[in-house]
Amino acid sequence: MSSDESIAICQSGYEGLLVREMEALGLPAAESGPGWALSGAPSRASQGAPGDRLRGATFPHAILEAPAGLSGERVNELAHKIVELFADSLRGERMEGPWPCIFAGAQEVTGLGRRVAAVEEAFHELLRKKLGRVAKLASADKPRLGPVRGLFVWFTDFGRAQAARSAYMNGPSRMADDDAAPSRSYLKVEESYGIIGREPRPGETVCDLGAAPGGWSYSAAKRGARVVAVDNGPLKGGALGHPLIDHRHADAFGFSPGKAAVYDWLFCDLIEDPHKVLQSIVVPWLTGGWCRRFVINLKFGRVDPIALLADLRAADSPLGTHASGVRIAHLYHDREEFTIVGTVIP
Ligand SMILES: C[S@@+](CC[C@H](N)C(=O)[O-])C[C@H]1O[C@@H](n2cnc3c(N)ncnc32)[C@H](O)[C@@H]1O
Repeated sequence: MSSDESIAICQSGYEGLLVREMEALGLPAAESGPGWALSGAPSRASQGAPGDRLRGATFPHAILEAPAGLSGERVNELAHKIVELFADSLRGERMEGPWPCIFAGAQEVTGLGRRVAAVEEAFHELLRKKLGRVAKLASADKPRLGPVRGLFVWFTDFGRAQAARSAYMNGPSRMADDDAAPSRSYLKVEESYGIIGREPRPGETVCDLGAAPGGWSYSAAKRGARVVAVDNGPLKGGALGHPLIDHRHADAFGFSPGKAAVYDWLFCDLIEDPHKVLQSIVVPWLTGGWCRRFVINLKFGRVDPIALLADLRAADSPLGTHASGVRIAHLYHDREEFTIVGTVIP
């Protein structure tokens, strides 16, 4: 395994943006494909290992560190190579508790999912014979956030995989739907709680700008928070008539909490130019201290997302000067948009 390389996994279809973000971080991609990019040697060696630089970046969902490339035409051949690599790398390491054992590949590549499943099954069978105790401790549960040790295998195509013992999970994860949620957008705010490490609590207050049909408002209200939902459009499903949701038919750009009010949360999911949202919502809300923490979704369909990221990350941006713990993530449930979370510096 080469410590100079990392493979970053992203949402399939966004690998072009992942590659551009890596370049902006001084990590030119040596190769990429649906849902992944492999970093080559860093162009700015002084700034640490590639995996470290990708932690907290926007497009990677997971980073497989110092992966080894494996190839094989047949399922058993690949499984055998993965078992050998894993067993060799275990020398001197005690596996005392459950360890993540994750096999994956872009689901969009026809047939690849079946191939991954077949190799995974063959791997487990071989591992049970070779290292029965360790095999019993393998867990297919995907860790959510932070550094993890286990086995992570990413298939770049039918006959090739990258296998790593260490990975960094950047946070994005698939969320469970709720039948009462009025929109698909509900899943995004649910996912964002895992990134910020906090979710609305009973009695907290939320201002939801661009709330209709009410997925985000419903998500907060079902946790017992009181929500002011600002949108001229109608609320639907579980948000309609919810006793904790106060629907205001108003323009989000003219809305302010009024004297002495501070919301625990600002939610903002407007289909608007992201620079307008930054200037006319993010700046007044953060500089005015109108909220304690925020979840803001910016649509990048009509702008260059990498240039937008550079603006957002600039030291003098409103996020840089007025917020801490800022993360900008392309969530599992995001499309042409990314989600910003953070805490306002009082
Ligand atoms: C993507 S939808 C929000 C979805 C919502 N987060 C949910 O979970 O159901 C964007 C909403 O922003 C609203 N919107 C756009 N411009 C607005 C403005 N200036 N003031 C208030 N709402 C606005 C639209 O009416 C639309 O309902």
